Amino acid sequence: MEVYATVITGFEKVAAKEISSKIENVRNCQPYRGNVRFTLEKDSPSETLKNVLKMRSVDNFYVVFYENVIEGLGKMEKEKAVKTLQNEISFMNWKIAIEAWQAANGKSIFGGTDLIVEQMRNFMKTGINAEVTENSPSFRVTCKRAGDKSAHQFSSMDAAWKFGGQINNVFGWRTSMKQFDIEIVMRIERDSILVMIALNNESLFKRNISAYGPTTMRATMCYSMISIADPKPGELIIDPMCGGGSIPIEGACAFSDSFFIGGDNHVLALERCFANLKSASEQFPIPCNFFLWNACHLPFNDNSVDVIVTDLPFGKKLGSVMDNRLLYPKLLEEWKRILKIGGRLVMMTHDKRSIDSAILKDRDAWQTDSTYIVNVGGLSCLCIRLSKI
Ligand SMILES: C[S@@+](CC[C@H](N)C(=O)[O-])C[C@H]1O[C@@H](n2cnc3c(N)ncnc32)[C@H](O)[C@@H]1O
Repeated sequence: MEVYATVITGFEKVAAKEISSKIENVRNCQPYRGNVRFTLEKDSPSETLKNVLKMRSVDNFYVVFYENVIEGLGKMEKEKAVKTLQNEISFMNWKIAIEAWQAANGKSIFGGTDLIVEQMRNFMKTGINAEVTENSPSFRVTCKRAGDKSAHQFSSMDAAWKFGGQINNVFGWRTSMKQFDIEIVMRIERDSILVMIALNNESLFKRNISAYGPTTMRATMCYSMISIADPKPGELIIDPMCGGGSIPIEGACAFSDSFFIGGDNHVLALERCFANLKSASEQFPIPCNFFLWNACHLPFNDNSVDVIVTDLPFGKKLGSVMDNRLLYPKLLEEWKRILKIGGRLVMMTHDKRSIDSAILKDRDAWQTDSTYIVNVGGLSCLCIRLSKI
């Protein structure tokens, strides 16, 4: 079974590492731009797919059930192109798609795979549309075209609309754009087509947070940053500028052998931290705590903290680049004081210049271990891991 995972652009290798290390039966796990693809051994039990959905660095999972190159698709006029896409429906492995969906969702669609196979056979033989019944699942088709969109004479909407129409004809599924049981995604790049079924209904990065702030980070981003710091059991990990607490909360859930503490100098941010901690702790207690503090004067002894993971004010929604030029060197000075020798500092910022110049000012104190250019809500940001020398 071929799985396609959408991940944060820039953190593809982090996601590939998590998938290969946590899921059994994974073969050929490869990072691409914004996604990771891998194969699950053929007879993977449905438990494996449920484990796939527990990955913390992945936004969405899909199972690929059709992949092809249609020569000349880009040159075809609109009507012919969408008709060609429509006609491919019978070459797709709908049995695999439905089996995967059922395993991931822990429920069956009416009639299961037997009905799907029978409906496809009938349609191919008679050309008569399947009936829509009250048991028919609802679905939507999304089409995403990558690369040069002017390479096609049809729009993504045209392709999704026509293909969705054909699914309705063959299987009698009900179209619904907002509330749907099944989501089918077509990804078209020039002449290449990938058709996939979504395994999760709601994006997996939507977890932990109930009180959103102006710069709340996705849980998948928080997880990726923390895993770059490589937390060890028993380590003390702090986020000195934690906003609504998204990094410490994700850390305490994902790395329960380490200790997470967050803080912020804004009272409202602290209120959001406690609201998020309360709502995230509904199923099981999450051991982390939050404090009102100034990240330039932290209540920790010298050489006492193992790891700092933080998302700096970028100077976009919060603060300004002028502020950052003064603030970043002060932060690094204080964080150098509290970190143990060999302690790790992972930071994210859009203001690459200010952070580069702050590191350069104290270059003998820090070793750069790795850097990542990451897409944060459309902004190209730098995530950097330093170690205190
Ligand atoms: C980019 S936001 C962090 C967002 C956070 N990761 C989240 O998901 O909510 C940066 C935070 O730094 C805080 N901050 C700015 N200057 C600070 C300082 N001197 N001490 C502590 N926090 C500070 C701001 O209040 C803001 O909440």
